[in-house]
Amino acid sequence: MTATAHLQAGPARASEIEARIGELLARMSLDQKIGQMTQPERAHISPAEVKAYHIGSVLSGGGSCPGDNRPADWVAMNDAYWAASMEEDEDHLAIPLLYGVDAIHGNGNVRGATIFPHNIGLGAMRDPDLIERIGRVTAREVLATGVDWTFAPTLAVARDPRWGRTYESYSEDPALVAEYADRIVRGLQGARNGTGPDRPGRGGVIACAKHWVGDGGTLAGVDQGDTVAAEEELRRLHIAPYLPALDAGVLTVMVSLSSWNGEKCHAHRYLIQEVLKRELGLRGFVVSDWNGIDPLAEDYAEAAAMAVNAGIDMFMVPETWRDFIGGLKQRVEWGVVPMQRIDDAVTRILRVKFAAGLFDRPRPWARRGANGSSFGSREHREVAREAVRKSLVLLKNEAGTLPLDRDARILVTGRNAHDRGAQCGGFTVEWQGVSGNDAIQGGTSVWEGIQARAPRAEHRTDGGADASPDDFDVAVVVIGERPYAEGLGDIREPGPVRPGANHVPAGPGALQPYGNTLELSALHPEDVATIQALSGRGIPVVTVLVSGRPLVVNPELAASAAFVAAWLPGSEGAGLADVLFGDHDFQGRLPRSWPAEMPSGEDPRRNGSVAGGASILFPIGHGLRTR
Ligand code: BGC
Repeated sequence: MTATAHLQAGPARASEIEARIGELLARMSLDQKIGQMTQPERAHISPAEVKAYHIGSVLSGGGSCPGDNRPADWVAMNDAYWAASMEEDEDHLAIPLLYGVDAIHGNGNVRGATIFPHNIGLGAMRDPDLIERIGRVTAREVLATGVDWTFAPTLAVARDPRWGRTYESYSEDPALVAEYADRIVRGLQGARNGTGPDRPGRGGVIACAKHWVGDGGTLAGVDQGDTVAAEEELRRLHIAPYLPALDAGVLTVMVSLSSWNGEKCHAHRYLIQEVLKRELGLRGFVVSDWNGIDPLAEDYAEAAAMAVNAGIDMFMVPETWRDFIGGLKQRVEWGVVPMQRIDDAVTRILRVKFAAGLFDRPRPWARRGANGSSFGSREHREVAREAVRKSLVLLKNEAGTLPLDRDARILVTGRNAHDRGAQCGGFTVEWQGVSGNDAIQGGTSVWEGIQARAPRAEHRTDGGADASPDDFDVAVVVIGERPYAEGLGDIREPGPVRPGANHVPAGPGALQPYGNTLELSALHPEDVATIQALSGRGIPVVTVLVSGRPLVVNPELAASAAFVAAWLPGSEGAGLADVLFGDHDFQGRLPRSWPAEMPSGEDPRRNGSVAGGASILFPIGHGLRTR
């Protein structure tokens, strides 16, 4: 079935929508059309400017939040933007503004949201039904903030774990990503009796499959790098998961900041216009990524023209939106960008707005579900906790160390034992995530989950320096990565990450990648030291690894009696205790191969191979049970 069939509730409604688009388009000036194609960032545009420039969409970059960052603050902000967009006079047409956020593991920007495991953990569950339920809960928590659009799902097939966005990918296996792709879209956008999506907005939001395409296949896992691959391989590994998403009626697609064989995706007419729109039949619209057009040409107007002509319809131009509007207008007037292309872009944007029912919806304040009490509710958190339970992968369990006995004397320690921020990882409250517990409201740390079950458990922040086997039967040591997002999570030689682009400053303030090795003992030597010290003293250690990807953990594994990969479990750390104490057994299976060594170099012949071509310690699919 085509995307169109799912996009519309029926042929009558489809032709009604097309008629309304035609009517509106005929009344729009060039300024109004270009405004629809423009998406500034909230910190850089006021409601009055939304009206003055006929803006079609506004977004929040990661961590960009109004007021006190409560749902009510978001609703108020959206209400003001929406009201400005809906004022009609001789110079302005009422077209509802579309607001976009990165609700990529729950509505993560917002204080008190239910935070789900990042996608890598969801991949370990192998549970498409739960994926759809997670989509539904996420949609409800997005709607609670008056927002209609999430930049999710990420359908990246991350091949090399050195990539800082590995955790956003369900799996290195395109089949597993494809198995989830339609279910997450249906969950987010809403499905009525299995016959197709409800109108997003009535229980659903608009989804956005990203990043088109090959984002997870770059050489050496460099963020925004180059995916060197024959077309057959690009289709088999990276395009394949988009097919079920389009079939489920995903309304929007975001372009990747990476290149394919040296050519930037943002200027790739063949990939966008020919493959995505013509061949695969996307009827909704294509949005650029953050400042994605900047590297296309020295001249910004030329860059804008190239991207429009390549088939991008809406432009994420957070700060430079005025230049974009001026530049694109000039190129249309010069005849470099044909008017049909502008009309096609605006038609697609309006089609999504109509199909999602935005024209029929009351102002954000008055919407059902806005500021709703289910935001961060117990019921929602239960779904996240179930996902945590199902995502844990048991890699080692010597002598039946697990499950733990509730009456045991348990030492709980390690950097991530009591750190909900670390559990949640990037894209939580801040773009790069946050450390510690203060910013993550609600939920439980791993320690809090254990504490609630085992009365004799004790948390120590000093690694259990003088703990002895006389005092403790077993230790749970929670280690791993600190939060990061995008290129700042890359593993590679030091050097600026995306200088000048995105949120990252150039020059002396340039930000660096996470590190230059996947070996945890080199990245965070205190972790292996803690494990070895405790096990050396005769206390069996259960290691829990909180990380956005498999790391090289050979010494940590060797010194542990049991070892659990917990990925980035999100706000509900109590899901760990559910499994550690045996109320539920482990059922997660590795969503990607686990490297035995640090992958080296950028050998293009290794491209397309898993784990950057490193030798494998545990294959994809591996995962032990305790019974
Ligand atoms: C990321 C996108 C994200 C966008 C908006 C970009 O840096 O690549 O995945 O949706 O920012 O926050």
